[in-house]
Amino acid sequence: MHLRYVSIVMGVIFVVSLFAVAGAQEAKKEVTHKYVGAAGCKMCHTKDGVYESWSKTVHATAWTKLSADDQKKEELKPFYATGVSDKGELLTGIQCEACHGPGSDYKSMAIMKDKEKAVAAGLIIPDAKTCLKCHNEKAPTAALVASAKDFNFEKMKAAGAHAPAKKAEVPVQK
Ligand code: HEC
Ligand code: HEC
Ligand code: HEC
Repeated sequence: MHLRYVSIVMGVIFVVSLFAVAGAQEAKKEVTHKYVGAAGCKMCHTKDGVYESWSKTVHATAWTKLSADDQKKEELKPFYATGVSDKGELLTGIQCEACHGPGSDYKSMAIMKDKEKAVAAGLIIPDAKTCLKCHNEKAPTAALVASAKDFNFEKMKAAGAHAPAKKAEVPVQK
């Protein structure tokens, strides 16, 4: 009797630990998406006007407007840069992937064409929370702290994100 309970308990522990291992692998998979940089999005998002529209935003040029001293401050990098590429290069400014997530696993045509697959591969459809990562009261510069006051997503989106994609393929209705 006693032995049987022991083996049931051991069995349960074994199954639970299998789930724990699977869970850890799942978590690990999520952090493997890598940053490719805006140039990796440009080739396909030129025709729809998104790349050009983004390149004229405050986000695209935010890094270049920092003083040489500020560019050396580690605490500014998460707010004024996007991340580090596979090659170890700092991707400066608020590039596509700062809002849409690192693109290494979703940027192929086969995946991008299918929104569900793209999201599963790391594509983020940004909402207010995406912006508040940087536009918040604890941000390291006065400009960002000021922008967090009464943050209105729709207004800020119109002013700060790019224009909506042009659907070039859609025939003009007459
Ligand atoms: C190989 C071509 C290609 C590359 C490279 C590419 N995309 Fe796309 N992307 C597409 C296509 C095709 C669509 C679907 C049609 C559309 O909305 O233009 C799309 C759609 C999207 C969407 C809209 C998803 C939705 O349905 O709401 C976002 C956001 C996006 N891409 C971001 C990016 C970002 C960021 C990068 C760079 C990391 C990137 N794409 C690189 C081809 C590409
Ligand atoms: C990775 C950090 C980061 C993210 C994410 C981010 N921003 Fe920004 N944003 C900045 C920085 C940095 C500036 C420039 C601040 C300065 O002038 O020093 C800025 C400036 C702006 C500005 C122009 C200045 C202002 O306050 O009116 C708008 C509008 C804006 N962002 C909207 C958005 C919206 C909308 C989102 C989310 C879809 C967003 N931002 C996400 C970092 C970010
Ligand atoms: C400051 C954050 C931010 C940055 C930087 C940014 N986007 Fe977006 N993007 C958004 C938001 C917000 C939306 C709209 C999401 C929604 O409400 O559907 C969007 C939508 C899109 C869409 C769908 C277009 C549409 O009209 O539905 C595409 C494609 C896209 N982004 C590509 C890009 C590419 C490529 C870059 C870089 C060249 C980029 N984005 C940079 C915030 C950003």
